[in-house]
Amino acid sequence: MPHKINSVAVLGSGTMGAGIAALAADKNCKVLLLDINEDTVNKARMNIVNEKKPLLSLPSNIKNIEIGTFEKDFHKIVNYEWICEAVVEKLEIKREIFTKIENFRSKSSFVSSNTSGIPLKEITKGMPENLLKDVCITHFFNPVKVMKLCELIPGEKTSKEVLETFSNFLANTLGKGVVYGKDTVNFIGNRIGCYFMLKGLHEGKDARKKNLSIEKIDALLSKPLGLPPTGLYGLIDLIGLDVMYSVGKNLEINLPKNDLGRPYVSLPDAELWLYNNGQLGRKSGGGFYRVQKSSNGEKIKEVYDLENREWVLSKKESMDSSSFNIMLDDTIEGNYVWNVMGSSLLYAADLVPEIADDIVNIDNAMKWGFAWQKGPFQIIDALDPKKVIEKCNRLGIKLPKMLEVINNSSNNRFYSTNEEFLNLSGDYEKISA
Ligand SMILES: NC(=O)c1ccc[n+]([C@@H]2O[C@H](COP(=O)([O-])OP(=O)(O)OC[C@H]3O[C@@H](n4cnc5c(N)ncnc54)[C@H](O)[C@@H]3O)[C@@H](O)[C@H]2O)c1
Repeated sequence: MPHKINSVAVLGSGTMGAGIAALAADKNCKVLLLDINEDTVNKARMNIVNEKKPLLSLPSNIKNIEIGTFEKDFHKIVNYEWICEAVVEKLEIKREIFTKIENFRSKSSFVSSNTSGIPLKEITKGMPENLLKDVCITHFFNPVKVMKLCELIPGEKTSKEVLETFSNFLANTLGKGVVYGKDTVNFIGNRIGCYFMLKGLHEGKDARKKNLSIEKIDALLSKPLGLPPTGLYGLIDLIGLDVMYSVGKNLEINLPKNDLGRPYVSLPDAELWLYNNGQLGRKSGGGFYRVQKSSNGEKIKEVYDLENREWVLSKKESMDSSSFNIMLDDTIEGNYVWNVMGSSLLYAADLVPEIADDIVNIDNAMKWGFAWQKGPFQIIDALDPKKVIEKCNRLGIKLPKMLEVINNSSNNRFYSTNEEFLNLSGDYEKISA
């Protein structure tokens, strides 16, 4: 029987911790929010009630949040049903916090980590069985208030009751779209999303030689594919090259040996140069783009010329076509989109059942976590799986798992018109509500 969660202790009050605390407080949970010192946690409290962009929907819900520090208040977690770890993405620090959690928590509590990509088995290696059965990953996306996705990842020993409790709470109390993943590096959304971004940067070098500008690439990798208007470079400006660098390092350590993403885990030379020079994105005042004010106060958007290392005026680029079919065209644009988006679709199609049991969880993760209008398998359906298979055959690309499955099946779409999806045996299965 799942339990009801009414209280949460959030450990770490940064971007994600503050977001999770605010969401839970908005849903009338009793919240304890802790961090390394009073300054940090006071700042988080100010962000939560910020007049211009509050994290809370109802300002008075701040009454549900008590703040404190790890040093003075850690023992209070004993009174909370859910202990949510959201400290900095460093394995050793997370392990330290987890050891402390186990010393102080109530034995009937549920524990989770909000790590964006470190496998749970690494965080909890060698920890007591008592903790292992009560712990899983609840991976929220940023901003917590806005993004629908929460990935739920069990560890090897997580009890069914704990999973059911989280699943119920995340969906019914916090209003999240729950996706079930496996304890593999970067889970679902970030595994595919980071492949897409890193592959995009690597392909960008060659594309720029063919006169595809950064602005053109962003126009290609947005509207025609049903992706957010930031495209590729705009998205990385938002995330920050420092985060992309660490993501790459984590992938390098944890990706399976023969994973197709392995060649792209390091930043390409031009982006590495930006990273080393602190030109990280919006957080550093500019990355690939920046906005300047002219002498008459007008806003000017500039783009960084990666080859000549200088800022130049950014040109507005847009696409007339709004069709996935662009990636089947044998043009410079079409080939770039195929090499980035097409390749990401094939990558996703090879990750069932490694990262998720079925295509529905993968599609939902990309829609709810990366704001794609369609998930990878829905995009392949829009293109027609037969055409994608033909293109793979023409290019001598080995068919990824799910394309192999559909190729050998009597069904020719990943989704039927009957709310069903194609499973690993090539048969349709009802999509569960
Ligand atoms: N920011 C995102 O987009 C995002 C999205 C999903 C998941 N995550 C994950 O959520 C977690 C928190 O990320 P964030 O973006 O909120 O980071 P953040 O840097 O905003 O906050 C991290 C918090 O950890 C605290 N901290 C630093 N050193 C510490 C230590 N030695 N011991 C205890 N606490 C310490 C900091 O004081 C800070 O408040 C990370 O695991 C991250 O990978 C981040």
